[in-house]
Amino acid sequence: MHHMLYSSSSGSSCRILVTLPLLLLRLLSRSQTSRITLYSKELVKTSHYRANCFCDFSIDRNLRKPKSTNFVMDTVNSLGTLQDEACTDVRSFFELAPSLKNRDTITQKVNEFVCHNSHSSENLKSIGVVCVTSGGTTVPLEQRCVRYIDNFSSGNRGAASTEYFLKAGYAVIFVYRRGSCQPYCRYLPEDSFLDFFGVSEKGEIQVCQMNDRVVKTAITEYHSAVDNGLLLKLPFTTIFEYLQILQLVATSMSSLGPRGMFYLAAAVSDFYVPWENMATHKIQSTGPLNMRLSQVPKMLLVLRKEWAPLAFGISFKLETDPKILIEKANASLRKYQMHVVVANELATYKTEVVLLAFDGRVLTIRKQDEDENANADIEKKIIKILVDMHSEYMETFAKE
Ligand SMILES: *[C@@H]1O[C@H](CO)[C@@H](O)[C@H](O)[C@H]1NC(C)=O
Ligand SMILES: *[C@@H]1O[C@H](CO)[C@@H](O)[C@H](O)[C@H]1NC(C)=O
Repeated sequence: MHHMLYSSSSGSSCRILVTLPLLLLRLLSRSQTSRITLYSKELVKTSHYRANCFCDFSIDRNLRKPKSTNFVMDTVNSLGTLQDEACTDVRSFFELAPSLKNRDTITQKVNEFVCHNSHSSENLKSIGVVCVTSGGTTVPLEQRCVRYIDNFSSGNRGAASTEYFLKAGYAVIFVYRRGSCQPYCRYLPEDSFLDFFGVSEKGEIQVCQMNDRVVKTAITEYHSAVDNGLLLKLPFTTIFEYLQILQLVATSMSSLGPRGMFYLAAAVSDFYVPWENMATHKIQSTGPLNMRLSQVPKMLLVLRKEWAPLAFGISFKLETDPKILIEKANASLRKYQMHVVVANELATYKTEVVLLAFDGRVLTIRKQDEDENANADIEKKIIKILVDMHSEYMETFAKE
């Protein structure tokens, strides 16, 4: 079971959201040349940034195709249709979705972050910018939401991967489900705050001796990432919020061209109740309850083809049946034109994954118990391989 039906006891887990037509959709990346200009006054305030930041990056998609055009499609023609269909579905999904609260603030934060970590700014610290998505999405059943369908995911893979991307020199936009695992806090117990600190005889708060090192490392690494403008965290809860944030981040990151990367580890629900079909008030408890769920439109292809066409795309495929896993992952690699699909099985996802790359490479990564570093995360190995693949990918552009 990946998805569970929950009932929130407080009855206030969802905001009342008003449907507004979203016509901002697909403003970017429609023409052959996408030109994106970001200008930010906010940055003036922060001393370690330049006084202001002006990025001007234009991409001509026809001129800057990767040399190794290895996207061997089984049916090239059907892709065009698939893409058109996906775009229509996606457009109507966004038009009908409740509008994102704080859209302007989020947009500004993302643009500033991308600008700060773009090549045209003076900061050349990061070798690339990766958007890591993490945790499951909820599907509300009522507009004034009391109940929702949730999708299981602890967010551990996303949080761990974020740490390794930062270590590898990337800037990370961490798009996470509220309450899911966070980078640098993965090892802390649930009551970490209460367990990690103590009160001294003088009445001062102290970190307990035995946790001293773990806490110090976590705090140091976290602050160093944030202070250098290398980590931006954006929370979501519902499927509506998740997809709107992803679109916003992707269109902003398209200005980075091939330096951008998407690592889509979130467990996104495949089914949802469209806002206009949703009961306004709490559904009454006299049953049985019949509900029809619609399919969430496939955003991956639209992300790859429209939102951020030059970015390196990595998606995840989870199955419980090992017999169909590789086949499914391979199909999704081709269908959505991903650069890499990470295939994992529910029973073994912590110890074994298979990477399928667009150029036909198939790599099995195992966390070996006999390893000296039995405690090392499997994410460490995954990220190392992905960083290498992304470097190769960026080189194919540089040569031209
Ligand atoms: C939950 O996420 C998994 C993995 O991403 C997906 O296969 C599954 O269909 C999702 N559940 C729902 C309700 O869509
Ligand atoms: C993936 O599909 C392609 C085309 O159908 C096939 O040639 C290739 O061998 C498959 N790869 C794997 C790992 O199954």
